[in-house]
Amino acid sequence: MAFEHLLLESSDRIVTVTINRPDKLNALNADVLGELDTAFDAIAGDSGAGGVIVTGAGRSFVAGADIAEIASEPPASLEAFAKRGQALFRRIEQSRKPVVAAVNGFALGGGCELALACHVRFASTKAKFGLPEVKLGLIPGYGGTQRLPRLVGRGAALRLILSGEPIDGPEAYRIGLADAVAEPEALLPAARSFVASVLANGPVAVARALDAVDLALDLTLDEGLTAEARLFSSLGDTADMREGTRAFLEKRAAAFRGA
Ligand code: COA
Repeated sequence: MAFEHLLLESSDRIVTVTINRPDKLNALNADVLGELDTAFDAIAGDSGAGGVIVTGAGRSFVAGADIAEIASEPPASLEAFAKRGQALFRRIEQSRKPVVAAVNGFALGGGCELALACHVRFASTKAKFGLPEVKLGLIPGYGGTQRLPRLVGRGAALRLILSGEPIDGPEAYRIGLADAVAEPEALLPAARSFVASVLANGPVAVARALDAVDLALDLTLDEGLTAEARLFSSLGDTADMREGTRAFLEKRAAAFRGA
């Protein structure tokens, strides 16, 4: 599959999606959004793809939505503009194959929001996370006002959203915006090693774990516990559950089949 602004590389069931528009610091224009949609469609339908790493080419992860496109949007179409990016990021979040952001540089505006939609964020010590939209007379429109407070709490989210000021990778890690931090050259190996560790587990269990944790953010505790018990029991008739428990008792590695 040929893309103008994405590089896709697959090995050991891990697909690395590199956003590759470095002259514009990988800003998300309509073409990049469309290509990401196509790429995630292909990955969802590819039984050889178990997990995804999203990163950026050059010194940026993604420096935001394309400001030139925003500036040329008529006011009446800004809601549709926001919903377009939101829909893409929601489908990434709803992927039942784990998606990890490897944030190598600027993750500003839509770039920070893309990282927020990924399941787990690995940050370079050189990363810069921020939601600078207020500096443009805007607010985040690709989910930042909703996902960031859920992840780091209201105060820490408002600190970033109201000031528009960026923070570096170690600070993002300190507040829980990044889940791990690594030196630049160790970033992709660390992200790969994490995805590989997930892929060693039962794929159906991994997908149900994503279902259960997503529900935790939307339901009351009692509703969530009910849902967890239902998802837990749904794994009872999978071959992988039989294999995983038997392999433990037989002191050998499990051979999961994804069923
Ligand atoms: N949309 C469109 N173009 C962007 C962009 C964006 N979000 N971010 C960077 N670019 C472009 C610049 O316009 C420039 O293009 P040019 O060479 O044709 O002039 C190129 O990328 C390089 O950026 P530049 O600003 O020259 O690099 P820098 O190192 O001086 O600054 C940033 C880097 C990230 C601090 C700066 O580019 C920036 O503030 N970008 C906007 C971030 C933002 O507000 N994002 C939220 C958008 S809603």
